[in-house]
Amino acid sequence: MPSQNQIRRVVSGMRPTGKLHLGHLSVLENWVRMQDEYDCYFFVANWHALTTAFEETEDIPKNIRDLVIDWLSVGIDPLRSKVFIQSQVKEVAELYLLLSMITPISWLERCPTFKDQVHQLGEQGKDINTHGFLGYPVLMASDILIYKGNLVPVGEDQLPHLEMTREIARRFNHMYDVKALTEPQALLGEVALLPGVDGRKMSKSYNNDISISAATDEVNRRVNAMITDPTRIRKSDPGHPEVCTVYQFNRVFRKDEIDQITADCRGAQVGCVACKKMLAQAIDQFLTPFRERRRELEANPKEVEDVLQAGAEKASLEARKTMGEIRKAMNVE
Ligand code: TRP
Ligand code: SF4
Repeated sequence: MPSQNQIRRVVSGMRPTGKLHLGHLSVLENWVRMQDEYDCYFFVANWHALTTAFEETEDIPKNIRDLVIDWLSVGIDPLRSKVFIQSQVKEVAELYLLLSMITPISWLERCPTFKDQVHQLGEQGKDINTHGFLGYPVLMASDILIYKGNLVPVGEDQLPHLEMTREIARRFNHMYDVKALTEPQALLGEVALLPGVDGRKMSKSYNNDISISAATDEVNRRVNAMITDPTRIRKSDPGHPEVCTVYQFNRVFRKDEIDQITADCRGAQVGCVACKKMLAQAIDQFLTPFRERRRELEANPKEVEDVLQAGAEKASLEARKTMGEIRKAMNVE
């Protein structure tokens, strides 16, 4: 039995930016696995989406639905985990306000994701030099701290935010001499990070992704478009797996056969066309069970709504408890 002071609660969120793809697998697999051991809070970070998409909000409701269906289809279990929408727990906004009082601007300006993103989107002609975007890490800290999360499964890009969450928690507890906030730990995925079919980072915006809801012919098309070893012109030329995108996928989806694949590639025993065909089959097989569940959910929109409502109600209970402590500590009853 886990005791009171052992790690026991998981909190994580994703922004509703479109369908999930194989690049999200490592975080998703963590989410699914952690349900067996922890009390999990999984939410759609729709307020976070607004920090960059405040001018074009019309797609957000559909993206929320798609995201939740993606989650449920891969095995997020709403009977064990709280699955909900960030903005349906309004206490988070209150905690965000209160934590913003104690968070130095210098911490936020120093945050690498802030500088990078303002610069990157600025180059695309979009000005996100806003109060809301600057406060992104404070909002994320509020998401985690309000549910007293101990573990936060995220991608590597989120580590600076996790570190700031810990700093904010420490500062709060120290300043008001309380133990109201729990310092969370990040948990990185174990599955190797998959590149996009063109070898760059997998991203919907590069159009190089394989979505987890992809149909068989889409999977085939994407795998066919993958970059292989460019020096291998004929089948009789020895291959170099280390430079091949197909190979990186083989390492994840054909893990059990990887030694044979490596030998066959280097020894020119298998052609790239055949190699791609086998990979496409392996990915397709991997996605098959998800498709079944997705079909059910798409046929029954009410089920998704019910899941989100029940999730928000359960999450709110915890959020209210924490806010009681926070208000007391800061004398803002
Ligand atoms: N910032 C995270 C991302 O872009 C999403 C997120 C928001 C989150 N709140 C969170 C993740 C709390 C973990 C915990 O991926
Ligand atoms: Fe890549 Fe497979 Fe071709 Fe080797 S045989 S280069 S692993 S596609």
